[in-house]
Amino acid sequence: MSTSSPELFVELDRSRPRGLRAQLERSLRDAIRAGRLRPGVRLPSSRALAADLQITRGVVVAAYDQLTAEGYLTSRQGQGTVVNAVTRPDPPRRRDPPPATVRYDFRPGDPDVGLFPHAAWARATRAALRSLSDDALGYGDPAGLPVLRETLADYLRRVRGLSCAPGDVVVCNGFSHGLSLLARVLADRDTAERGVAVEDPGHPSWRGQIEWAGAACLPVEVDDEGVRVDRLAASGAGAVLTTPAHQYPTGVVLSADRRIALTDWARTSGGYVIEDDYDAEYRYDRQPVGALQGVAPDHVIHAGSLSKSLAPGLRLGWLVVPPALRGELLAVRAHSDRFTTSLIQATAAEFIRHGDLDRHLRRTRRIYRQRRDALIEALHRHLPACHTTGISAGLHAVVRLPDGTDATRAADTAARHGVLVRPLRSGPGRPSQPSALVMGYSTLTPHRIEEGIRHLATVLELS
Ligand SMILES: Cc1ncc(COP(=O)(O)O)c(C=O)c1O
Repeated sequence: MSTSSPELFVELDRSRPRGLRAQLERSLRDAIRAGRLRPGVRLPSSRALAADLQITRGVVVAAYDQLTAEGYLTSRQGQGTVVNAVTRPDPPRRRDPPPATVRYDFRPGDPDVGLFPHAAWARATRAALRSLSDDALGYGDPAGLPVLRETLADYLRRVRGLSCAPGDVVVCNGFSHGLSLLARVLADRDTAERGVAVEDPGHPSWRGQIEWAGAACLPVEVDDEGVRVDRLAASGAGAVLTTPAHQYPTGVVLSADRRIALTDWARTSGGYVIEDDYDAEYRYDRQPVGALQGVAPDHVIHAGSLSKSLAPGLRLGWLVVPPALRGELLAVRAHSDRFTTSLIQATAAEFIRHGDLDRHLRRTRRIYRQRRDALIEALHRHLPACHTTGISAGLHAVVRLPDGTDATRAADTAARHGVLVRPLRSGPGRPSQPSALVMGYSTLTPHRIEEGIRHLATVLELS
């Protein structure tokens, strides 16, 4: 164990005095996680560090206390404050490698990239190349190309009922990138202490991203009306990430009462709602529901991407950001990857303006609807004891298994027989979910869906 205090490199942005403690905390947390501050190292006394950084001692004491509470530091009598051994957050998990012989892949998450409109995209790329100015090929605005921001603002007002102008739009590389930028901004505010609520069950990756950025993550239960706003309010969170159009993975649409309660919560608590407009493009037999941002634009950060409607590989998404967060968000963006590739931005603008996205969505909605109907029919026929929910929108369904069936074991059995499905799961340490499978149907034809469900019924022996 080293007993001397290390020289610490801590950079503080003094133009934001309110965030000094959070900045110091984050700097130390990052250094410990990255191994720059090794276990056993003794930190300078709060007095010495405060003098060194020219900040008040109270700020250093508060930061040390917080990191002690989080388990990164220990205060020992006579030894001062010492770095603990921490397990670094796992690197992001790559998607499960498929078993050697996959016969039917019902895992949720991917659109059918075989439906990608190559000809229309090629036309849009050529048109974009012709129209790109020299300026657009230089170092661009971190918020995005003006033509795409205008196009997206028009599109989102028309199709999703947003209340936005081009200046509110920040182009990013998909939803996950947008979330990582936002998480960084929220982690610099008091939201880091209040925590960011996430839906439970929810997408497992988002939690890791928020924690990685330095904010605490608070799981909040989802029921058959969507996220529980009473539990959200009780959690004290400063922001919530939610999927109101089609909750992932339960498929629930946020009810009208909950929409009101959620925006009321944001207004009264000063919290932010991060609206992941996931699956909003694919709606089959329910009325359209406008985006939450349209009713509370100062409290909702709206986020979307082309990943489900066109292809995840394009890495193109957007945030619609309230003015109070915009400056910080753009600063974070400029300091990370600067901006999104100009040619992709110009192509997407051309593609949307020319009506190609509308056409593509009309076409794929028909196809996905047929696949969804095939899934429902096949489940009725081959697994009548199962009950299917969450099917009015999106590209996946939740299939409730008969009581007493272990969903994880069922998914393992299915995988051994070449059928890939996902069990419905809560986050670690959370109450268990009803026994159910989450099944995507977007990449299989109706015929293959019928075959796959017949095979699944045989191997699970549930019919
Ligand atoms: C809940 C949810 N939201 C959004 C996305 C889109 O993420 P991205 O735009 O980064 O591809 C996904 C992708 O799987 C998702 O599962």
